[in-house]
Order: sequence, then structure tokens, then C-alpha cells
Amino acid sequence: MAVHVYAANKDMRDRYFTDADGELLFVPELNAVDLHTELGSLRVSPGEIAVIPRGIRFRVELPDKPARGYLCENFGAAFTLPERGPIGANGLASERDFLTPHAAFEEREAATVVQKFGGNLWAADYDHSPLDVVAWHGDYVPYKYDLATFMVIGTISFDHPDPSIFTVLTSQSDTEGLANVDFVIFPPRWLVGEDTFRPPWFHRNVMSEFMGLVKGTYDAKAEGFEPGGGSLHNTFASHGPDAETYARASTQELTPQKLDETLAFMFESRWTIIPTLQAVQAGHRQRDYDDVWSGLSRNFR
Ligand SMILES: [Fe+2]
Repeated sequence: MAVHVYAANKDMRDRYFTDADGELLFVPELNAVDLHTELGSLRVSPGEIAVIPRGIRFRVELPDKPARGYLCENFGAAFTLPERGPIGANGLASERDFLTPHAAFEEREAATVVQKFGGNLWAADYDHSPLDVVAWHGDYVPYKYDLATFMVIGTISFDHPDPSIFTVLTSQSDTEGLANVDFVIFPPRWLVGEDTFRPPWFHRNVMSEFMGLVKGTYDAKAEGFEPGGGSLHNTFASHGPDAETYARASTQELTPQKLDETLAFMFESRWTIIPTLQAVQAGHRQRDYDDVWSGLSRNFR
């Protein structure tokens, strides 16, 4: 999988895009995107997500400019709902809340179609719009989903379930428990665990974790993680809450607490995520990120 951040201030007008390498998961952070596809149109606003399957041609318009957000390019098996296991029939994301577009078409005399294929971009000039499909049937379709309809499941006694309980969509691999990609969210929810350190604890694990923030603050980082930003904890890199969060969560009274006005997410993968040179050299990269743990002291007595 690949992680991209997009920022745009222009409509695509007579230009179209299609990705032969992977399906595209859109996570808008600032303003909506109108995805006009061969199978119809979807408006996707912050708080919603959309998936465009491989090979589907589309054009993006911006109802409000500029627009910014995150993209997961999934080269593996198509995203699907995770197995619910003992959760049973209800909980997490429900099939009924995924929306597909109505057929729509446009006429045009000229168009440029840019295709991502084998990691490169190729352009072709058309004498018609590729969005000239007047009707369709089947299930290989773009879809959108409102993350507010996700039923969040957590402890009602003590301790943490594995954060995989927050999985909205998964791209399965050939090894159970190791996804090619999991799309995981941390939406508004109640914390009620007793005798529990409630923020995500200190850990390292197989899965590489790219994290983004659509709005609010994330409960494991007191500052420095802004909406539109990203953090990367690659496979087996140690990480956890910052010193300020540790101090607060270790001493606060454990009454029920509502985490509100927040929406963080992860693109999590069994594979190592290799940053591009552009990302590594970016002026806005936080070079002192590990300072967030510098205030942690020994507590052995
Ligand atoms: Fe983690």
C-alpha cells in the first residue's frame, strides 16, 4: 500500500484519472471532494470516506477550495468489512451504511485521461468523456461511508481490546491477523474502563502504523499532532503516549469520560512503509518528534 496526502485548489475539468495499480481510499480532512466516476458521482466530506476501485475513471471537483486530505492506495486485495467473530451480526461498520452512486453520464468532445500504471503516469487524449456510461449493474463500484455510523466497541470492564476492534475496512493478506492494510478509526466514544490506563499504551508490533487526524486532538498526544498532519511508527518501532498524557492518565479519577469532537485514523499495514525522499526532506517534518517521550521518568520503587 502507499499513503498519499493531497492538497488541491482547482477542479480537474477535462482531465480524468484512473489507477491501474491499486484502489484509492479517500479520507477528506479539509472540505469535500466531488468524485465524478464512470458509475456516477459521490460527494465525500470530512468525516466520510470513499473508495474508488482499480481502473475506474474519475474526475474530481471541489465544492469548496482548497481541499485537503489523505489517500490510501491499496495494491492488495480489495477492501472489505473485517470478520466480526464473536461480535456477531451487529457492530463496527454495517453493510447497509455503504452508499454507491446512481448512474450519471456527461458528453464532451475532448478529454485527457491520466493513468497510473506500474508506478508511472501515462496520459491519453480522448475525443469523448470517459464518463459516458448511461447505466450499470454489478458490484465493482465506488462507494462512500459516513464514519459517524460506525458502532464503536470498547471495554465495559477493564483493560483494552486490541485496537483492531476499530477496523472499518480491511485488505486481507494470505496470513490471518496480518492485513495488507487495515483502515482503523478513533472516533468520538466513551471511556469507562476501571483500574485501567486508558490511552493507547506503550507497545511495538508487526504492523506499521501511519496515523492521520481529521479533526480535534488524539488522546495519546497532548500537542504537536495537528489535523492534516501524519505520524509514522514503522514495524517494531516503539511508541506510546507522550509524557504529559502519561502523567494525566496515571493520576486522573476514572469516571466515565467522553472523547468528543475528535477523529483520528490509521492506515495500518503488515509491510514496512518506506518514506519518500520528499517526505524525509520536507521542511515541515518534525525532526524532534521523539522529544515527546523525554519527560518520562523511572517509576520503579
Ligand atoms: Fe501503535
